Amino acid sequence: ADPDPLQDFCVADQSASSISVNGFPCKPASNVTSDDFFFDGLTKVGDTSNIFGSNVTGGNVLTFPALNTLGISMNRVDFAPGGLNPPHTHPRATESGVVIEGQVLVGFVTTGNVYHYKVLTAGQMFVIPRGLAHFQKNVGVGKAFIITAFNSQLPGAVVLPFTLFGSTPSIPDDVLTRAFQVEEQVVESIKSKFSS
Ligand code: GLV
Ligand code: MN
Repeated sequence: ADPDPLQDFCVADQSASSISVNGFPCKPASNVTSDDFFFDGLTKVGDTSNIFGSNVTGGNVLTFPALNTLGISMNRVDFAPGGLNPPHTHPRATESGVVIEGQVLVGFVTTGNVYHYKVLTAGQMFVIPRGLAHFQKNVGVGKAFIITAFNSQLPGAVVLPFTLFGSTPSIPDDVLTRAFQVEEQVVESIKSKFSS
């Protein structure tokens, strides 16, 4: 989904903060080394001790600057038993993924509100068409983890519980009571879990 590159590489210079462009400016090619093209971040097990029991580790342009202009990225998602990567969308990318360990329910919903889902085990792959709401849940007995891949250097994530109930400032209660057809206490109760 990202634009095509105009050179072999453009390792992001995250410190060039005075320049605003679509993406990041390149660090000078003379400063680029082999190390720039390798990233260890996805070797580490994410900390799943949070309300969802899951953790996304990003291998995107922010953590792996060599991805700048190349139009791809990956995540590692770890799950405690029962853990959920909550419903979210990626505005800039289609996602594919593969289960590395465990048993994972993967689901997404189309713009026509059709729910597609399957329980996957190690080696099995899935795809989430760009922009559609999706989740993964560990439905096995032990831990689980998956690797996901995106056709964007920075797919972005709109995480629905936080977007709707944890924004700053908060979306007015009357918007959410009307949207979800519930009483104000229900909205307040959900907001209390997600407001930061
Ligand atoms: C999983 O859905 C991910 O976005 O990495
Ligand atoms: Mn996703």
